[in-house]
Amino acid sequence: MELGLEGKAAIVTGGRSGIGAAIARRLAEEGCDVAIVDRLVDRQAHEVVAQVEAAGRAGLAIEADVRDFAAAGDAVGSALSAFGRLDILVCNAGINRDGVIWKMSEENWDEVIDVNLKGCFNYCRSVARVFRERKRGTIVLVSSVNGLRGKFGQTNYSASKGGEIALTKALARELGRYDVNVNAVAPGMVRTEMTEGLPREVMEGAIEESALGRIAEPDDCADLVAFLCSDRARHITGEIIKVDGGQYI
Ligand SMILES: NC(=O)c1ccc[n+]([C@@H]2O[C@H](COP(=O)([O-])OP(=O)(O)OC[C@H]3O[C@@H](n4cnc5c(N)ncnc54)[C@H](O)[C@@H]3O)[C@@H](O)[C@H]2O)c1
Repeated sequence: MELGLEGKAAIVTGGRSGIGAAIARRLAEEGCDVAIVDRLVDRQAHEVVAQVEAAGRAGLAIEADVRDFAAAGDAVGSALSAFGRLDILVCNAGINRDGVIWKMSEENWDEVIDVNLKGCFNYCRSVARVFRERKRGTIVLVSSVNGLRGKFGQTNYSASKGGEIALTKALARELGRYDVNVNAVAPGMVRTEMTEGLPREVMEGAIEESALGRIAEPDDCADLVAFLCSDRARHITGEIIKVDGGQYI
């Protein structure tokens, strides 16, 4: 199926590694110019930009912490001047700082909420102005099944991801009349830097509870995100779509 993304321009936060990097590559393969925004612009980030360019598109790496409100405005401005347009925002940057609530520090609570949830606010707010003026745009938030079901040891992470889900629905209502689609994807366990340090039994538990009996690869998420960014999904908004191999049915 032709996605019709040729010639569009996208921002992907947290695009240096894992799911974000796969999304950046996939959007470039579909014909988008892509700016990745990450707190780290290192060799790995430049490699993603090189992969975008190898697909024949313009790539850009912007070093910024998604918690920084002013930097979000600057990042959106930089992408606009580099590409001359902006059609797509993917809010993907995220972290976890796990622990049961009775042992969780205030710092770990605040950091996860700030990066995962406020980071989405900062970027959605910045592009909302652009998309309202253009009367078109697409936003995809990368949430988690744990934002839907809650996970033991992840009150901070689950709350942030549940917040992203509510943000998606409210924003879909606010921007719908401007022909802006806002959706979220909710991955289950995905093989990335975020999960590589997890104990073997946690990974095995995720495989066990998955109907398909496997852990996702970042590309499994990127395929869904690319579809949601495309005009093929033009009548879908305010939706939360799981990509979890049936981990949470
Ligand atoms: N891996 C999983 O099992 C899984 C499951 C469900 C949801 N998710 C979500 O998917 C998203 C991507 O996660 P991943 O697994 O690819 O992790 P990852 O650690 O591989 O990638 C996260 C990226 O975000 C960047 N980042 C972190 N904090 C940042 C900040 N403050 N400002 C800017 N960039 C920042 C990191 O540098 C990194 O490049 C996250 O939102 C995560 O919560 C992951």
